[in-house]
Amino acid sequence: MNPLVINGQRLQREIDELATISEAPAPVVTRILFSEADLRGRAFVKKICSSLSLKIRSDAVGNLFARWEGFDKKLPAIATGSHIDAIPNAGRYDGVVGVLGALEAIRALQSSGFKPRRAIELIVFTAEEPTRFGIGCLGSRLLAGSLSLDKARALRDRDCKSLEHWRKRGGCNGRLNSVRLARNYYAGFVELHIEQGPLLERAKIPIGVVEKIAAPGTMHVELTGVGGHAGAMLMPDRHDAALAGAEIALAVEQAAKTTGSRDTVGTTGVFRIEPGAVNSVPCHAWLEIDLRDTQVKTRDLALRRIKKTAMQICKRRGVKLKFSVLNADAPAICDSGLVELVAGVCQELRLPVKRMISRAYHDSLFMAQVCPITMIFIPCRGGVSHRPDEYSSLRQIKNGVAVLARTLARLAG
Ligand code: GLV
Ligand code: MN
Ligand code: MN
Repeated sequence: MNPLVINGQRLQREIDELATISEAPAPVVTRILFSEADLRGRAFVKKICSSLSLKIRSDAVGNLFARWEGFDKKLPAIATGSHIDAIPNAGRYDGVVGVLGALEAIRALQSSGFKPRRAIELIVFTAEEPTRFGIGCLGSRLLAGSLSLDKARALRDRDCKSLEHWRKRGGCNGRLNSVRLARNYYAGFVELHIEQGPLLERAKIPIGVVEKIAAPGTMHVELTGVGGHAGAMLMPDRHDAALAGAEIALAVEQAAKTTGSRDTVGTTGVFRIEPGAVNSVPCHAWLEIDLRDTQVKTRDLALRRIKKTAMQICKRRGVKLKFSVLNADAPAICDSGLVELVAGVCQELRLPVKRMISRAYHDSLFMAQVCPITMIFIPCRGGVSHRPDEYSSLRQIKNGVAVLARTLARLAG
């Protein structure tokens, strides 16, 4: 095998080109599940996969698999990958580094003359971001069998359009029950990602290897009050849905701050009201709440407190409450063998490495239910993510790709 050469310029060009495929003008990247931008982004990635002679298939929810066949076809494949969908007002690196970086790793391995014994498969997961249906990691949840088909079929977007509607529009016609992966389908999964936090940059450490992924939860709150004329409806007569929502959002903050764990974080990231007119009392409000912790116990303590407080607020204000928990997932523990393998590769490359917890969730959280996993983190400027100014330097990305390529070579060789 010749030395591995990572072509950083080409990779940066591809990252920049994919960033132009967006529903919003640059530097904003927005690619909502099965939007035109998402479909064009998928086509862009498929074109690179074809240029590397990878065998491409998609499943019924749009997860994309690109396979570099190994010479021992009886062995389960090694997988890598991430996502290219992007929340509104996102940047260009979240997920994309793990997809285009993995393709660059495969290209470097191919150019070096490496012949994989077991197949290497790139996975581009459907809807890691909770944009259209409010639930994250939709594709990997279904791959792992961790979302029931009934729940998947019941998903609706804001216009009441179903997953069935959107996936068919996206060209995914198979049966949803065929998405689930067999337990021994993969021998391991390694995801490259930007850290989305400040620790690597602060410590000036180029690589993180993930030992645990924090436990996410999502709640949807629907509030129905009484609307009316902002001038004529006197204050004692009001049942303002937006004010009930405002109190609930403050209760989320309070609950997250008082579990006794500094790892509990709560965010009310979506807050919509209707009718949305300055001279009209809000009759409806919708909140989407994100709650996480490294420990299920304290995450669930906050969840229970939020629900109880929301009920009290709504009773006091005479507002009808519908409170649903979309997901309350367990954390994932990474495979110690894979963690040590990545750490060993970093040592060979003379790259200092930090063992860490991922506070963001990733498709790896659900791949952990299917096979051994770990993640490779690279620093990002100021720890900033989910913003257009998200940034990792080419040197940082190349380091991550080099570690991924060598890790894949070890696992597939
Ligand atoms: C992933 O995008 C997350 O919200 O952690
Ligand atoms: Mn993200
Ligand atoms: Mn991501």
